[in-house]
Amino acid sequence: MRQQWFDEARFGMFVHFGLYSTAARHEWVQNYERLSSEEYRAYFENFDPDLFDAREIARRAKATGMGYVVLTTKHHDGFCLWDSALTDFTSVSACGRDLVREFVDAVHDEGLRVGFYHSLLDWHHPDFTVDANHPLRGEEAEHGRNERRDMGRYRAFLHGQVEELLTRYGDVDYLFFDFTYPDSSDGWAGKGPEDWDAEGLLALCRRLRPDMLVNDRLGIPADLVTPEQYQPTAPLMRDGEPQVWEACQTINGSWGYHRDNHDQKSATLLVQMLADSVSMGGNMLLNIGPDGRGAISRRDEQVLAEIGEWMRLHRRAIVGAGHSPLSPPREGVYTRRGDRLYLHLFHWPLGVVHLPGLAGKVSFARLLNDGSWLQTSVSDPTRQAELMTPAGEAEGTLSVHLPIRRPDVLVPVIELTLVPGE
Ligand code: GLC
Repeated sequence: MRQQWFDEARFGMFVHFGLYSTAARHEWVQNYERLSSEEYRAYFENFDPDLFDAREIARRAKATGMGYVVLTTKHHDGFCLWDSALTDFTSVSACGRDLVREFVDAVHDEGLRVGFYHSLLDWHHPDFTVDANHPLRGEEAEHGRNERRDMGRYRAFLHGQVEELLTRYGDVDYLFFDFTYPDSSDGWAGKGPEDWDAEGLLALCRRLRPDMLVNDRLGIPADLVTPEQYQPTAPLMRDGEPQVWEACQTINGSWGYHRDNHDQKSATLLVQMLADSVSMGGNMLLNIGPDGRGAISRRDEQVLAEIGEWMRLHRRAIVGAGHSPLSPPREGVYTRRGDRLYLHLFHWPLGVVHLPGLAGKVSFARLLNDGSWLQTSVSDPTRQAELMTPAGEAEGTLSVHLPIRRPDVLVPVIELTLVPGE
């Protein structure tokens, strides 16, 4: 079961770093601003990641409670963070460093799992045909020039680079390919499995790294599905089968460092998204975009520190936990791990939270942040409300009594120990 460690980990870090980090205005800047290779070259000439510290990134991931880290080996701009023999558009040419090597060593040393994000697109490669997502799409002449571009040659390059990544860096646990897209309404062809030779690429992955997880963005099913920047509302199923899934999320909407984007999600929202994902049997891959010098930005660092403090106290409600088919109360979501059910409270109610169906099924209830016991009771369902006496709850409801003051944590969690057999 190659996904076992992944299901257990539940929480990972995504790291988007490349030439666009120096441009500091979104990792799609070359496309958005239709920059030619010559214009984009300035970021290559001035690439200077003097503060890129893979050890710091790995330590930060671990301290945030994450079990794996996924780095962009190459993004759509084609810039490679490793010492590829197939191009000189690499970090080694730009600054003399193999950042993938530094990353893999640091992540392994922290005892975390290693993931590579690898772009199927390549706006730098002369054989990658211009399409609706390409920075040169506006150039009339490029329609014609596509005839001289040869996707067959590009495919050989793509497969060759993946082979380098999977043979030179020891264990790689996860490969996140990105991405496949349909034809556009203005006449450009999309790109899909046949463009990448998705079957061949997946076979290569299976041959070189049989235990490695591969995502779904080659356009053919593989090991997991990857909703992007949205939260599913139920466990993901295909043909009645639950899917392994991971929602990838940004802190501010941009994957690459975007200096002037302050659309920062709060640490509370991000923890709710994490708990929400686990409650539906999924993972969350939370992105950071190191800045032009390779440093984790102050604002990302602060959010990660807050989440890390929450994870320190609530880890067992996330790591190794998963979906519970029980319907949660309106205040939050459930995760389950062994004989424990965890209620993540997104709203703090007045004095009591009512849990349908749990009467007689819980032997102990406590707040997880400080381990403190919580009183439980079952009320008479026939009792009518009267001035200062509430009505009884529906048959089978367990009521958990809460302090008036909400614990000072991002998301309070109640740990319920279930009686044997539940
Ligand atoms: C999208 C974007 C890309 C980002 C990725 C993360 O496909 O093209 O910029 O790296 O999602 O999942």
